[in-house]
Amino acid sequence: MANDVIEQGVAAITRAMQGRAFPKSALVLGSGLGPFADKLTDSHDIAYSDIPGFPIPTVRGHAGLMRIGKAAGHPLACLQGRFHAYEGHPAAALAVPVRILRRLGVERLILTNAAGSIRADKPAGSLMILTDHINFSGQNPLIGPNDESFGARFFDMSHGYDPHLRARLHTAAKHEGVDVYDGVYVYVLGPNFETPAEIRMFGKLGADAVGMSTVPETLAAVHAGMKVAALSVITNLAAGLAREELTHQDTLAEARNAHARVEKLLLRFFAQLEH
Ligand code: HPA
Repeated sequence: MANDVIEQGVAAITRAMQGRAFPKSALVLGSGLGPFADKLTDSHDIAYSDIPGFPIPTVRGHAGLMRIGKAAGHPLACLQGRFHAYEGHPAAALAVPVRILRRLGVERLILTNAAGSIRADKPAGSLMILTDHINFSGQNPLIGPNDESFGARFFDMSHGYDPHLRARLHTAAKHEGVDVYDGVYVYVLGPNFETPAEIRMFGKLGADAVGMSTVPETLAAVHAGMKVAALSVITNLAAGLAREELTHQDTLAEARNAHARVEKLLLRFFAQLEH
């Protein structure tokens, strides 16, 4: 079944490309970062609703659109909107858009997200480059029969976040004078924000930030042989570290505040990336 959806998704996008080449790089825009897609030149859009296997977003801040164009001259597919497990999708569904991209020839996947900081010294507005993750969800999009045409049943996650792409992100950040730091992202299912006790535990486990996305996509992409980089926009101090109540509205507002810096960083990153 999943394979049929993947083939249908690939066919729908291929039709919409009308003979144009699909980019080798794709960027998933997290909550509040959707407007980055407006920076693409020579662009055209494909609505998720026209792509079998792509999610119809249920969360504010996620548009449900793929925009294909050039970011600072670099051919790029921007995905505005993603699946989240808390919306009720089965874990395997979260791998489908990534696998469709892979079949279309995408080699690099850049993921962005909004996350809560587990470190008091990294408040809202900070930008974290993921060095690694902890999958605390108890779920995995790759459970089930393995499709060898994507990758091996058991696969290495020692370098899940590609060191070369991470170095490129750091170089771009330095160039643009944008502060970034390295950290570990812990993936939770949500939809509730964590309890203070959970956040204390995650800190002891070695996590720097917490969020409800990215990891399923990383797993599907690494399995399929793609290079992955990921960037968290810290939108709040996590539960117990913050005095204020946590709301999705604040998350979106903080992500939008950070947008100008994220935009500079990503445009420089893509400008300097081989096609
Ligand atoms: N927890 C989980 N996910 C999040 C948070 C958080 O504090 N902030 C933004 N996404």
